[in-house]
Amino acid sequence: MSLVNALDFSGKHVLVCGGSDGIGYGVASAFLEAGAEVSITGTRPADNYENDFRRFTFHQLDVQDPDAITALAAKFIELDVMANCIGSVLWKKEEFERAGFEKIININLTGAMQLCTEFYPLLRATQGCIVNIDSVVTISAALNNPAYSASKAGLVQLTKALAKKWGRTGVRVNTVAPGMVPTKLTVNQSGEENEAAFKKTNPIPRFGRPEDIAGGVLFLASPLAAYVTGQQIVVDGGLTL
Ligand SMILES: NC(=O)c1ccc[n+]([C@@H]2O[C@H](COP(=O)([O-])OP(=O)(O)OC[C@H]3O[C@@H](n4cnc5c(N)ncnc54)[C@H](OP(=O)(O)O)[C@@H]3O)[C@@H](O)[C@H]2O)c1
Repeated sequence: MSLVNALDFSGKHVLVCGGSDGIGYGVASAFLEAGAEVSITGTRPADNYENDFRRFTFHQLDVQDPDAITALAAKFIELDVMANCIGSVLWKKEEFERAGFEKIININLTGAMQLCTEFYPLLRATQGCIVNIDSVVTISAALNNPAYSASKAGLVQLTKALAKKWGRTGVRVNTVAPGMVPTKLTVNQSGEENEAAFKKTNPIPRFGRPEDIAGGVLFLASPLAAYVTGQQIVVDGGLTL
């Protein structure tokens, strides 16, 4: 098979969960540019965002509601790629409390598991794939976010377990670990002062951009990665070196 046009997603149906903003919006935009028909999700109604959703099909979804995930999957008749870019974090030591810890595990890990299992039958039918988004905190750990760190580490192992289970049915499952990308999730860490310090030490001297992460996701979703499954690709400009 020729790999020259491997990043042409024309005729492919792609769902980017958490595509309403930040990295997910960058991933969704990259798939759109590559020719795919792209659906995205966000927690609020579509007119509640500044991003332009006109070329996407938008679905409102909160993964804390299991029925909502089931209802979303029922809306699809065909799917080639499910990219899960959903992620949440709590501040002010809330993740040290049981309620906060459970909330983040529920969104980042249990929600991811249900998304994978609900969309698996559609992906098996097309010999499609899943790409999750974890984090470099799976390697280094985040100081004030035990639930976020644990949920993302769990997501890496979930990716491996599902890849092992589903590989023989033709469905690949991989995950991308971003470094620091300024988004609403990282607003506390990506101010000008932090950026200046980051530039002085990071091997690639800039913050990441959503399109950097999209590069990893499109690679994993493409025939270039036809023999890659259960893997974590770190896209962090060398942060973890
Ligand atoms: N930014 C970074 O430096 C960085 C680094 C490592 C990993 N990551 C990971 O990258 C992914 C994207 O994060 P981001 O930085 O782009 O943050 P973001 O801009 O806040 O995007 C997070 C996405 O998840 C959605 N979401 C949040 N809670 C949800 C819930 N309960 N149910 C369904 N959807 C929910 C958000 O919807 P709304 O737009 O409606 O809030 C949004 O679409 C996350 O998995 C994050 O953990 C980010």
